[in-house]
Amino acid sequence: MPTVFDAYGTLFDVHAAIGRHRTAAGPDADRFSEIWRAKQLEYTWTTTLAGRYADFWTLTERALDFAFARVPSVDRALRSRLLDAYLSLDAFPDARNVLRDLKARGERTAILSNGSPRMLAAAVEAAQLTDQLDAVLSVDSLRMYKPRPEVYGLVTAAFSVAPADVTFVSSNRWDVMGAAAYGFRAVWVNRSGAPDEYADAAPIAAVHDLSGLLSLAR
Ligand code: 2OP
Repeated sequence: MPTVFDAYGTLFDVHAAIGRHRTAAGPDADRFSEIWRAKQLEYTWTTTLAGRYADFWTLTERALDFAFARVPSVDRALRSRLLDAYLSLDAFPDARNVLRDLKARGERTAILSNGSPRMLAAAVEAAQLTDQLDAVLSVDSLRMYKPRPEVYGLVTAAFSVAPADVTFVSSNRWDVMGAAAYGFRAVWVNRSGAPDEYADAAPIAAVHDLSGLLSLAR
């Protein structure tokens, strides 16, 4: 029974890029990073709704340019450094241990992400997670973004399993909604103590961090 992880925000800290350049970015660094992330996700939803597609790297660049326009106090000279940092985001501290423990139990593990194959390969390698993952699945093969059900279908096709056999882990509540609606055993990693939403597509569990996964009954 595979355990499948969302990538950005769940295994990899999307705010680590600005974190590496916090001093240079100045006092609006956190707001800038929040806008960058929110716009990046908005672009995935709007392009998919419009029946269009540009890969996640392109949308990440466009969202970064929007953030620079919205927060002019952050120096545009940081653009290439922030993008470089985005390719090698820090994994959350518990990511490697949790993946290792799941593998030690004999479970299959994977990533299912909006990220382009190139981004995901770079992030997985930089975080030294390659050995802990059986598959890295990207929406890019479908040219549409989460939470389209076809995207979650990449997992059932890759592992030849039914949706109910998949544990899907995401820190993004809207992604948990999509996964639960598809029939996955969805687990919400709610690091920030955010209020729950999407009551009609609830997770089987909410955990505070990835290590909380290890105590879930199978
Ligand atoms: C991911 O698919 C949603 O960014 C998130 O990795």
